[in-house]
Amino acid sequence: MAVRDLQSTLKIQSSWSPPRSIANFLSFDEIEFLKRLQSSSVEVENKKGGVQCAPHQWEKISDFLSSRIEKEIGLFDTKFVEGNFFHTKNPYILHVDGGKDPDKRPYKAILIPLSISPSGSCGTVFFKQRYIGYATNFAKGTKGFSTEFNNDLFDYKDVHFLDQAAEFDQDIHNQYLSHVPISCLQGLSVETVIDWKIGDVIIFDRTQIHCATNFKKTGVMEKSGLSLFTNSI
Ligand SMILES: [Fe+2]
Repeated sequence: MAVRDLQSTLKIQSSWSPPRSIANFLSFDEIEFLKRLQSSSVEVENKKGGVQCAPHQWEKISDFLSSRIEKEIGLFDTKFVEGNFFHTKNPYILHVDGGKDPDKRPYKAILIPLSISPSGSCGTVFFKQRYIGYATNFAKGTKGFSTEFNNDLFDYKDVHFLDQAAEFDQDIHNQYLSHVPISCLQGLSVETVIDWKIGDVIIFDRTQIHCATNFKKTGVMEKSGLSLFTNSI
C-alpha cells in the first residue's frame, strides 16, 4: 500500500490539528446557492458506495468561500482544490480523503452540510488515528468495499496512533457505527463526533480517519453536502 515520502509525511504531520465545526459559517442564501449548483450539475456519477457525486465547481464558489476558508486554515493551494458535491441514502464507511496525486500534500478537508431529510440527527465520527496514504477505505476483516475511488486497506500497520490491542467500544458502535463491521474498527478509537447543522462547516485533516454516523438509526433517510479537499502550498 502506497504511503507518501518522508518529506511529505513530515509536512502533513506538522499540520495536524483536532477536527472542529464553525457555527453559522454560511448564510441561508449561500446554502441555497450551493444546493442550486449541486442540482444543476449534469456530470453526476453513481458510485458503487451508494453516493451520488457531482463536480464541486470551485471556480463558481471560490469568490465567496476562498478567503473565508483561508482565515480558518491559513494558506492553501487555491488553484487545486479537490472534492465534490455528494448525495446519499446510505451512511458511508471509514475512510480518509487523501486524494491520489503523489505530488500533492493533502491538508484540510472542508465539509459543508447542505441537506438532511427528514431533518434529524446525523453527523461525522472522527477517529484519533491518521493515515498518510492515498484515498482509502478501512476494511480490516472484510472482503473489501469495492468503492469506485478509494483503495481498501486491510492491514492497519501504517496507521498512526493505532492501539492494536484495544477493543472498540460496543456502545459507540451501536450508537453511531452499526453500518460498519466491527472488525474494521479494531485498534481505532473515537476522537469526537460532530453533528451536522446546516450553515455550519466542519474542518478536519484530510489524513484523519472518519466515517458517517448511521443516520438511518435516527430516522434520517438521506443527506447531501459539499466536500472540499485542500492541499498545502
Ligand atoms: Fe470524507
